[in-house]
Amino acid sequence: MADLPDARTLPLDEASRAALAERGLEYRLLRSHDGDAIDAHSSAWMRGFAAPEAEEEHLRDVRETMAGRRLIGVYDARGAQAHWPVATVSSWITPVTIPGGELPMWAISTVTVAATHRRRGIARALLEAELRDAHAAGVPIAGLTASEATIYGRYGFAPATQAATWKVDTRRVRWAGPEAPGRIEYIDREAAAALMGELHERTRLQRLGEVPGWPRRWLGHLGLVEKKDRAVRAVRYLDAAGEPRGVLAYKIDEDHEEADADLTIRFLVADGDEAVAALWRFAIEHDLVGTVTAPDRPVDEPLPWLVSDPRVPTSSLTDHGWLRIVDVPAVLEARAYAGPVDLVLRVADPLGYADGAWRVEIADGRATVTEAAGAGADVELTVQELSAAYLGGVSLAVLRAAGRVRGSDAAIAALDLALRVPRAPFLSIVY
Ligand SMILES: CC(C)(COP(=O)(O)OP(=O)(O)OC[C@H]1O[C@@H](n2cnc3c(N)ncnc32)[C@H](O)[C@@H]1OP(=O)(O)O)[C@@H](O)C(=O)NCCC(=O)NCCS
Repeated sequence: MADLPDARTLPLDEASRAALAERGLEYRLLRSHDGDAIDAHSSAWMRGFAAPEAEEEHLRDVRETMAGRRLIGVYDARGAQAHWPVATVSSWITPVTIPGGELPMWAISTVTVAATHRRRGIARALLEAELRDAHAAGVPIAGLTASEATIYGRYGFAPATQAATWKVDTRRVRWAGPEAPGRIEYIDREAAAALMGELHERTRLQRLGEVPGWPRRWLGHLGLVEKKDRAVRAVRYLDAAGEPRGVLAYKIDEDHEEADADLTIRFLVADGDEAVAALWRFAIEHDLVGTVTAPDRPVDEPLPWLVSDPRVPTSSLTDHGWLRIVDVPAVLEARAYAGPVDLVLRVADPLGYADGAWRVEIADGRATVTEAAGAGADVELTVQELSAAYLGGVSLAVLRAAGRVRGSDAAIAALDLALRVPRAPFLSIVY
């Protein structure tokens, strides 16, 4: 995707600065070379997420990632630790995969407010400023992953991708999938982290809702940073031509009855179905293992079709990638569609960005969107439902069944058909 703006260079939101100043709090943009301030910011958000106090070395590692982001802290000069922010947020502009390509997305992370300052509207001041910043920078959509699903709906975010935790009782299944023509081999964890990054970057355009990762993300999956874990192992799959096509990081729980251990898949990334199946087979057929658990996997994992008893693999679903449309025409015109549409969409958005009546004409898989003020609406929803349905992760028919979309049967059916996608959207990382 063309060069994206650097979020770190954008000015601080004046409305939130003034609102927080009235409460005696300083809303401050950190400088990317101010290591001490970044470390205090990281220490504050780690405490906000109930993590232990970080070692110096860990803070230095984190600094590298954080220095590339737009970091904002809220400071209370009256505190005993006044150099630690009482609230934190970070953001950066990143591509997100959409049907037919990519879109610039305003990614938001490390939203925390100190337990001493909670429920006074500080998070609201931060989040509303992030959306104003995204809008001012011309970034048409915002995204995040959420610690709790109750926090972000009020700002117009909605879950657009789901993640599944798969579980397989391996004693009850035989492999029934294809024979892989390649081979599996163990690799060093550092090499596995590098291969993960490469394969993720090579394949992220194949999955709707996916975003680029960063080195610490992969090192973390391998147990090489933060919560260091020598129990993590890694294998890669090489195709028949000897090309690395997939990598699996996993851990076997040592505390087990004989031949009944739990194997947890920490991360699996693969270029192509052959490698996905081969790595699953490796996990399922592992000796001494009774259960394989794989969190943060696609909801449409082909697993039930790869084993002798499709009832044995079970999955539980959760919301994962949250999106918030900021610019309706830009977002709708950017994606490809599976069917024609000509209708008026009425979008309600309490924060204003997406609000309005929009004429949506889709022909030959592309949309033209224009303002249609005063026109009668064929489909009515809020920015949350539009954001949830944008990648095809939930159908409008389901949202209508929940009373969250209104309109004519024909218009809803046509729009649903147009939004349909071949595979479920999936975001493989937490950010
Ligand atoms: C979540 C968190 C950032 C909220 O900060 P806060 O400053 O207390 O939030 P605000 O006072 O601005 O509250 C804004 C709104 O969110 C609601 N809210 C805040 N935290 C909530 C929570 N955990 N669950 C549900 N609603 C919540 C408030 O009730 C308020 O609702 P209203 O505007 O409709 O009246 C803070 O509790 C926190 O740091 N939690 C731990 C870390 C975390 O989970 N961060 C989210 C990362 S994804």
